[in-house]
Amino acid sequence: MHPKIGSLLSRFPRVELVPWETPVQYLPAVSEAVGADVYIKRDDLTGFGIGGNKIRKLEYLLGDAISRGCDTVVTMGAVHSNHAFVTALAAKKLGLEPVLVLRGREELRGNYLLDRLMGIETRVFEVGKTTELIPIAEKVAEELRVRGKRPYLIPIGGASPIGTLGYVRAAGEITSQSSDLGLEFDTIVDAVGSGGTLAGLTLGLSLIGSRAKPVGMGVGIFGGDMGEKVLKLAEEAGKLLGVSVKLERPRIYDYSFGAYGKIVREVAELIKWVETKEGILLDPVYTGKAFYGLMELAGTGELGERILFVHTGGLPGLFHYGEEMLRLMQKP
Ligand SMILES: Cc1ncc(COP(=O)(O)O)c(C=O)c1O
Repeated sequence: MHPKIGSLLSRFPRVELVPWETPVQYLPAVSEAVGADVYIKRDDLTGFGIGGNKIRKLEYLLGDAISRGCDTVVTMGAVHSNHAFVTALAAKKLGLEPVLVLRGREELRGNYLLDRLMGIETRVFEVGKTTELIPIAEKVAEELRVRGKRPYLIPIGGASPIGTLGYVRAAGEITSQSSDLGLEFDTIVDAVGSGGTLAGLTLGLSLIGSRAKPVGMGVGIFGGDMGEKVLKLAEEAGKLLGVSVKLERPRIYDYSFGAYGKIVREVAELIKWVETKEGILLDPVYTGKAFYGLMELAGTGELGERILFVHTGGLPGLFHYGEEMLRLMQKP
């Protein structure tokens, strides 16, 4: 761990869910295809449940919940939400009772199947947008309070200043690892949903004085000005840490392909190519779209000569949308 980051984070309660530093690997076939050196930070292997970026945020979110004496955790997301499933699983492991407020249809596949298999309490609503769940989840938390419970409400994607600390910590890990490997990255790229991962990287890299620039590939959860939202979240997390830094707004490119969760043939084809060339599994909602953006922009030189992709996990997305991907790829 980077000493400055380690010392800034030391006063925040954290439950250890990530038992190791995740590996950084070189991707030879991808690098050859785009004409730049591309590496991958394997945060799909964070080591709890299905892995992924949310585990790092949960270390601080659930640490905070426990230190406040909460006994119940309420969070929200789409029915295929990686965040919702791992939050509930980690809550259960720590002896807290989870309640998930989900958007979509109750189809038994992907993460929703896992939710049900693990006996997690789910409440599913057929609303149009994930953000419409916010008042519903607040009402659920209020109901729990009336019943004498002490709920901890986690926002969509774990994107609160506390959750963001998980990726401030990851920025420290990446910086120490790159220096051990003798690598200097020009850009560090990730999929942007709720924005917490990119906000944490932006703040962490800036606190360290790293020359690597954080770059986001938007997959379209919120729409609108994600750059502003990410910057605000990074600044709020900076306030929480008690530091004053002038942060640059990170570059975010739109790779939602029209809508959050829209499954498209180009991305399905790319997932198949990366899997068969590198043995790395991407998903069609987050990492597949972000990696498509990385390859397209790296090919133009836009991301510099040495690029790190943060693999944020999401494997169950393949099992949720696999049939649809196959259908799209089989179309003449
Ligand atoms: C697999 C995966 N990648 C990326 C993201 C986006 O991360 P963030 O919400 O921190 O922007 C999410 C969650 O939304 C995710 O589940």
